Amino acid sequence: MTESITIIDNRTGESLEIPIANGGVDAADWRKLLPGIWFHDPGLATTSGAESAITELDGENGILRYRGYPIEQLAEKSTFLEVSYLLLNGELPNQQQSDEWVNEITHHTYLHDKFRRKMYDSYHYDAHPMGLLCSNVAGLSTFYPDSKDIDDPANRMKQAVRLIAKMPTLATSAYRHSVGQPFVFPDNTLDYASNFLRMMFELGNPYEVDPAFQRAMEVLLILHADHEQNCSTTTARVVGSSHTDPYTAMSAACAALYGPRHGGANEAVLNMLDSIGSYENVEPFIEGVKAGNERLMGFGHRVYKNYDPRARIIKEAAHDVFAVTGTNPLLDIALKLEEAALSDEYFISRKLYPNVDFYSGLIYESMGFPRNMFTVLFAIGRMPGWLSHWNEMLDQDSRIARPRQLYIGEPERDYIAMGDR
Ligand code: CMC
Repeated sequence: MTESITIIDNRTGESLEIPIANGGVDAADWRKLLPGIWFHDPGLATTSGAESAITELDGENGILRYRGYPIEQLAEKSTFLEVSYLLLNGELPNQQQSDEWVNEITHHTYLHDKFRRKMYDSYHYDAHPMGLLCSNVAGLSTFYPDSKDIDDPANRMKQAVRLIAKMPTLATSAYRHSVGQPFVFPDNTLDYASNFLRMMFELGNPYEVDPAFQRAMEVLLILHADHEQNCSTTTARVVGSSHTDPYTAMSAACAALYGPRHGGANEAVLNMLDSIGSYENVEPFIEGVKAGNERLMGFGHRVYKNYDPRARIIKEAAHDVFAVTGTNPLLDIALKLEEAALSDEYFISRKLYPNVDFYSGLIYESMGFPRNMFTVLFAIGRMPGWLSHWNEMLDQDSRIARPRQLYIGEPERDYIAMGDR
């Protein structure tokens, strides 16, 4: 079988054979035959925007691998910082590399003191922490002007370390500002997840990190660490393609993540479960979804059409957390909702399954995180993924992102004076 397609321009009879490589065809070949005829692909659902060696996602078979390693194995055996190293460098670190990497991250967790004192104070007390995060990630670029040197791979890695290291500090500072609590400074003796939990929850007495919470946090961060060309990662690549500094590009990625169709879905799931309120209301809610009046948040995915492997792992992690905290009362509604949806023709025919967000919010809430922090947690986890794609794109010396459009507006017309309108 020939691994190619042939396109024919029926206006001229000219044809062109284009090879299929790595599951795609090169648009540059298409342009040779049909200059000025654009693919119309809203949502970029059929367009590959990158060649990437970072994450392999097979939606039909529910497979997710980082640099070739199955997500199930990484969630069971690895740590978030090790996965971050893997995503950025392509290989798991040996002992010495691991020690150096963890040490580097641990010693870049502090924010410039002026930044900490002034930036947060300038926001209203009830500002959504995701809004603060987007702005403050961008704000860091003004403290690190050296980050503009994006041509130097070593300098890029230095900024990546800073960003991964500071995300928990930025996130918890946003939270503590929103509840009027004093900031807790990073503790360099703790691991990444424990340090984050402590900065989040310590008040008055020393915070003892529960090992079940620590491990659940690691697993959740690993599961969120990358997901190839999703909305926020594509945003990071598009903004980075203009050669802006990484803080500005990562802030744009945070902004893309904020929306309820993407990283904001975990918050929306819990609000949905609240509004359903009880077991008996599940069926009427499902009917409302089918009638198009509601959307079942935490269900459906552009790529997964079988199941989301992350959802499976999260469901297991939930049990470990609930063993400590007791079950979340909304869990019963979620389980009933899942059962009803998975046996309903509407959801079966559209291949709609629970995604990563369906259960993550229940775990976060049981651990004590307020709902407006859920997307922030997602952003902490996704930072190494965004950075790896940004770094890969710059290594590839890619062109600036600049799609075309199909113009459907008015043809040329003369300006009409105000009195004649
Ligand atoms: N509830 C009800 N119907 C749905 C849902 C849903 N959650 N998701 C998709 N559909 C229907 C949709 O109405 C459409 O039906 P029809 O063919 O009759 O018009 C069909 O399924 C195809 O949906 P689509 O909107 O074309 O799918 P998409 O690939 O554009 O959107 C999605 C993917 C994730 C935005 C969407 O499934 C959704 O809004 N889900 C709820 C939000 C959510 O959970 N997002 C988190 C995604 S996972 C975390 C992440 O990576 O960000």
